[in-house]
Amino acid sequence: ISAHLTVGPRARIGAIDRRLFGGFVEHLGRHIYDGIYEPGHPTADADGFRQDVIDLVQELGVTTIRYPGGNFVSGFRWEDSVGPREQRPRRLDLAWHSTETNEVGLHEFSAWLDKVGSELMLAVNLGTRGVAEALDLLEYANIPGGTTTSELRRSNGRDEPFAVRMWCLGNEMDGPWQLGHRSADDYGKLAAQTASAMRQLDPGIQLVVCGSSGRGMSTFGSWERTVLAHSYDDVDYISCHAYYAEKDGDRAGFLASGVDMDLFIEEVVAAADEVRDARRAEKRIEISFDEWNIWYLDRYHDEDKATGIENWPIAPRILEDNYSVLDAVVFGSLMISLLKHADRVTSASLAQLVNVIAPIMTEPGGAAWRQTTFFPFATTSRLARGEALRLELDVPSYPTAQYGDVPLVDAVATRDEESGAAAVFLVNRSLTDAVAVTVDAAAIGASSVVAAHSLTDADLDARNTREQPDRVGLTPNSSAAISAGRLTIELPPVSWTAVELT
Ligand code: AHR
Repeated sequence: ISAHLTVGPRARIGAIDRRLFGGFVEHLGRHIYDGIYEPGHPTADADGFRQDVIDLVQELGVTTIRYPGGNFVSGFRWEDSVGPREQRPRRLDLAWHSTETNEVGLHEFSAWLDKVGSELMLAVNLGTRGVAEALDLLEYANIPGGTTTSELRRSNGRDEPFAVRMWCLGNEMDGPWQLGHRSADDYGKLAAQTASAMRQLDPGIQLVVCGSSGRGMSTFGSWERTVLAHSYDDVDYISCHAYYAEKDGDRAGFLASGVDMDLFIEEVVAAADEVRDARRAEKRIEISFDEWNIWYLDRYHDEDKATGIENWPIAPRILEDNYSVLDAVVFGSLMISLLKHADRVTSASLAQLVNVIAPIMTEPGGAAWRQTTFFPFATTSRLARGEALRLELDVPSYPTAQYGDVPLVDAVATRDEESGAAAVFLVNRSLTDAVAVTVDAAAIGASSVVAAHSLTDADLDARNTREQPDRVGLTPNSSAAISAGRLTIELPPVSWTAVELT
């Protein structure tokens, strides 16, 4: 099978915002406690943070990190998480049926972000709380001093403001599972009021209004239009959330998940632009794809999720998906989808980071290791610089139950004018065949291959585990070569590939 990728006249998609490579840390399961924070661990630093995890998060290359939830934020009182630790309350976390000790809060998490070199993106609680509490948190975080709330921050040991730029107006407010779940009309009004109040306090912030928590939600589309009709002038981004998983052994359909992500983005863009046109507004709303990943959500319900009035564990082992090679190939294709929409998706957060549906796993007192999904993320974050370029696909298709005929190969290119570096990211969705691909490298501005790596394995179920942490990784793809301005490369069946060019 062969495929030809060319660069059309309107190839330039847009500049790649580094925020596209964001992450997400929620107070959930063993994400914080026993994940990033474990004071007794042999690698723990003076603040109790695991250095082995810090090193891996740096290697992953995550930019902005969304915090502290997720479903958790809809019942969260931010005041609980600041001040002397020994006085912090223990609270019920209704979202995950756990106990939150508040041992790690805003100050500690911000200190950890400084260590990993990532930017903080905060979510306010619009589930059980409203405008006043959002303003209090913003004042605490961003006002330099001279008021009771900002001075409280200073007396808690932080002189300089946290200066948080990006704020989420609640989380998944369309979901019936969400504490304080609302109709689109009710949420749209609350989000607009909260946003305009927050901007009165700090005009420099950027605000994300909740879009749908999945393309399959029955309210998808009308939710976006209604919420934006209320909040258009006051917000900068609308969120998308999407999780994919292999269902009923349909691997061909699972491999086509990027098609669903493409459609999701394009439908949200259409809804946002429809609202813009109706208002004759100049401003363009961008997308913050602030939760995306592979997640075997169905398995979660079968797991040992705590139940019962007397059973609220601290940091339970929940949502600890162990990713396969197949999962990582689909994951890599989702990153291609994000890059293909770099003009409108200018922020994204991989959900999540450590232990909880995560690229990084840890054992208490023991090792930290990379899941299969770690590799496409780290590689794309490292190589995809500058601008994204659309590739025209001359590629055979295969049939899927969900999306009809889907191209066997999907791909995107990137080019950084400043450094002269370029890259091509490709996925081969064929379960059986290698695909010989040619790419118009000259039109991308590249003349030689620096390196090419594929994620592939004869065993699509292979995974990295505590016992075998290095079972799966990237393998050099020695077939990549450029001659007469054309890149040729062979993509193994079910593979994700990154080619570094110059
Ligand atoms: O990432 C796990 C959960 O998925 C988040 O808490 C929630 O926002 C979404 O439903």
